Amino acid sequence: MINQPTSASKIPANVARLRCIGCGAEPESAAQDFRCQNCGDLLELTFPAWTSAGRTQPASLDPESLKKTWAQRRHSREPIDRSGVWRFRELLPPLEDDQGAITLREGNTPLYDLPRCAAAAGIRNLLAKHQGMNPTGSFKDAGMTVASSFARQAGFRWVACASTGNTSASMAAYAARGSLRSLVLIPEGKTSWGKLSQALEYGALTCQLRTDFDGCMRVLNEVIKRMPIYLLNSVNPYRVEGQKTAAIELLEQLDWQVPDHVIVPGGNLGNSSALGKAFSEMKELGFITRLPKISIIQAEGANPFVRSVRENGGKTLTPVQADTMATAIRIGNPASWKKAMRILELTGGTVEQVSEVELAQAKAEIGSDGIGCEPASAVTLAGLKKLVKRGFVKPQETVVLILTGNLLKDPEFTLKFHEGTLFSGTSYETAAAVLKPFQHPPVILDANADAVLRTLEQFDKSAPH
Ligand code: F0G
Repeated sequence: MINQPTSASKIPANVARLRCIGCGAEPESAAQDFRCQNCGDLLELTFPAWTSAGRTQPASLDPESLKKTWAQRRHSREPIDRSGVWRFRELLPPLEDDQGAITLREGNTPLYDLPRCAAAAGIRNLLAKHQGMNPTGSFKDAGMTVASSFARQAGFRWVACASTGNTSASMAAYAARGSLRSLVLIPEGKTSWGKLSQALEYGALTCQLRTDFDGCMRVLNEVIKRMPIYLLNSVNPYRVEGQKTAAIELLEQLDWQVPDHVIVPGGNLGNSSALGKAFSEMKELGFITRLPKISIIQAEGANPFVRSVRENGGKTLTPVQADTMATAIRIGNPASWKKAMRILELTGGTVEQVSEVELAQAKAEIGSDGIGCEPASAVTLAGLKKLVKRGFVKPQETVVLILTGNLLKDPEFTLKFHEGTLFSGTSYETAAAVLKPFQHPPVILDANADAVLRTLEQFDKSAPH
């Protein structure tokens, strides 16, 4: 039997206000599905004190003093200061008590340069913000620390999500850390083992449903109507708030210089929305004077948003039956497509889609820079190459790829790629011939030094550095 949370299904709006992105209604609290009770659209959090026309901005939001505060917190011993998310808490919805934050020291992720990938793409300045370096290995942790803390504050005992794997891994970890119980719905057979094993280890009730991600989402929406469970999918606007901090931290790492382009993989489209919201708020608050163009890349087999933008300018979205080996973004009916469309329009970004072979090659190229990422993250580089060819990205412009997941999330993909079996028996087999130069299969030898040295010499001749 599940306990009633103290505040039932009502989530207080706090000083940040909930607002419907469709009809503009401002409910005092959110329903459990985080949908507007009037029109069914998604909710977002707004900060009236920042935006009211004519009102002077509060001194507590002065960019120069905030930059100093945020930098100083890096040296603090307080868990909330050492979190790379809560470090920026002035721009997040406030908790009743700072001690209430469930944190695993998320955020604080590296910004790398990618010289080999830059050369492959034909540009000079290519950077990667590696959100896969978060505690559970994906960008989800930035949003999860915020939303799970609000779940606990509101008195919920259970949290839940439908997931392609990363959200569930992250949710399970934060729930365990915060003594909450977690329910995971994932598509059977379409979640990488790395991600599945995380949910198990952190003690989630893990249900593998005989359906895809979109089917899991449908079932979960039914479940939360019947039980007081806190929904932790990215329709939850508190998750979006946490994910904003990746953009704030990126700007800090660039000494508040705005890159020309930010390129993001698109699945359920929460992350692109979060990053866009952050940049736009940072501009509003006077941290920056222009916005980067945010572009969204999908896999060809899971491209409902690309189609929507190309076919009708993002006015409507027709769900697709999604299929891609980049299982993280195997989503046919993205919840946050309207939010993502707003970000494209606001920033002047675009969309692109990439094939399975293109994304597999891009993943290996990112690996060749010593970084590595999971397949879904690699669509960013594959997409960038196309954007350069299209002339949308100019060779002298600065580009940041958002790498969303760690290489170790999906070792099976990587092993099969290097062994040359990833596309065996699929319709991509012929096209995959181009991948040969990127493959580094393991060599099985007898246990003697001569054999190893002979192999090394051959390797040195065939693959000069
Ligand atoms: N990259 C990775 C590694 C992901 O796990 C996801 C989404 C995305 C990109 C797409 O981000 O949904 O915000 O557009 N993963 C979700 C999950 C759906 O359940 O883990 P998005």
